[in-house]
Amino acid sequence: MKIDILTLFPEMFAPLQSSIIGRAVENGILEINLVDIRQFSKDKHKKCDDAPFGGGAGMLMTVQPLYDAIKFVLGQSTDDEGKKAPNRKNASVSEQMQLTKLPEKTIIVFPSPVGEVLTAKKAEKLSKYEHIIFVCGHYEGVDERLFQLFPICQISIGDYVLTGGELPTMVIVDTLSRFVDGVISAESLENESFSNGLLEYPQYTRPQIFQGIAVPEVLVSGNHQEVEKWRNEQSLKRTKSLRKDLAKNFERKSKKQ
Ligand code: ADE
Repeated sequence: MKIDILTLFPEMFAPLQSSIIGRAVENGILEINLVDIRQFSKDKHKKCDDAPFGGGAGMLMTVQPLYDAIKFVLGQSTDDEGKKAPNRKNASVSEQMQLTKLPEKTIIVFPSPVGEVLTAKKAEKLSKYEHIIFVCGHYEGVDERLFQLFPICQISIGDYVLTGGELPTMVIVDTLSRFVDGVISAESLENESFSNGLLEYPQYTRPQIFQGIAVPEVLVSGNHQEVEKWRNEQSLKRTKSLRKDLAKNFERKSKKQ
């Protein structure tokens, strides 16, 4: 899978070089490219932001560097298609749309608090794409025409506001990568929290007794059926205690089956 990350702050992405994601890149399972938006600015000072028309607080990211950077990673020319827009005063937004057609299995993601909230299911869907282009917003936002020029999927990582799209991009890349074949073992995915609608059961490793606390007897019994039963019970118990919303959903679905 190819992941292009368009950002004004490429230096923020060091975490993607380590651990599981770093290894997946080394093994050629993931290709992650950091693309500096500033390099695409046609402004003589490489400016990428400006004040909003109509006034208001803060600055907006300008559309030109973003447009050129996205066209670049799509391998498409920037023959100023935007100039051909009707641009009639009375034309509706949809009439003025100049949506670029994306190649198959390609998606553009713009992390934003206004997007659909990320879930494991959504991350798994994203993992099926072959090319994902992340556009990291900054300042007060971006010129809205970006969304008229490209089909863009906005994704939120929760109901709070971060200072930019870089951290959410890393969160989304990390979680979707786990669903890409070969990044982690199928078994790890199967048993983790949310895979079956419940939180994961508690786990223990050596030593068998630490500070006087022994691991649950059943786990060292060698009886695999009993271990599985215990884990299922613990999973449900933990979910009921920590995430009543998930437990209710799980029980509703179980009753239907
Ligand atoms: N950018 C700023 N806040 C965000 C959020 N909660 N999710 C995704 N992108 C964001």
